[in-house]
Amino acid sequence: MEIYLDTANLDEVRAAAAWGVLRGLTTNPSHVAKAGVRQLRPHIQEMCWIADVPISVEVTTTDVDEMVEQGVAYARWSPHVVVKLPTIPAGLSAMARVTRTPVTASCDGCTHIEGCPIRARFAARDALTRVAEVNATLIFTPNQAILALAAGAGYVSPFVGRLDAVGEDGVALVADIAAILRAHDQPGKIIAAAMRHPAHVTAVAKAGAHIATMAYALLTQIVEHPLTERGLAEFMADYARSQRPASDD
Ligand code: E4P
Repeated sequence: MEIYLDTANLDEVRAAAAWGVLRGLTTNPSHVAKAGVRQLRPHIQEMCWIADVPISVEVTTTDVDEMVEQGVAYARWSPHVVVKLPTIPAGLSAMARVTRTPVTASCDGCTHIEGCPIRARFAARDALTRVAEVNATLIFTPNQAILALAAGAGYVSPFVGRLDAVGEDGVALVADIAAILRAHDQPGKIIAAAMRHPAHVTAVAKAGAHIATMAYALLTQIVEHPLTERGLAEFMADYARSQRPASDD
């Protein structure tokens, strides 16, 4: 299962990217607001530059035409942009339209455009002009996932922790969507979202999620274990002791 970070905070992106485990970023208007972002384009382009991974960028309107316009504009900002659309009737229409519209990532305005190795890599594959991928967000039922996939979404994002919070079973939703994809040998990736604790991460991986997107705090939590800390401290101490002159013993 791939690990994505769910944030718009550049320090968190930098820190997570340095681990070498990051395969994507997801943002939403709440994360963007929390990060104090005023200009979304340069911010997303900076995230692209730092992490060099797919970035889901969510529309901020519920009007179909505006969603399509925004989504296509986002897709011009970076070849890594994935357009994030809500799973509502208007969102489905927008998914169908965005996934039929070729867009060239011109990267206009990006301060890193000169000699950018990311652009060069996409250009070498003739992939700067593409039909942008869509991440269908706010999924709470298997049927919403079926509809989003039918509308052309390449990613579906069930919100696991938010379902648990209302007494339903978020991990079971991931398992249901995974079973549907398997039953129909259908393309499409599940991004398990709204992860709340380490057990969620393991559970959605077992349930068939292709990706789990999580807050930086959870990412740091899942690497930790007290026995890892204790074992490492012992190894370091033993090594240091072994390097001391014999007379020190
Ligand atoms: C996913 O793409 C969403 O941005 C995210 O997981 C929302 O979850 P939250 O409930 O943690 O805000």
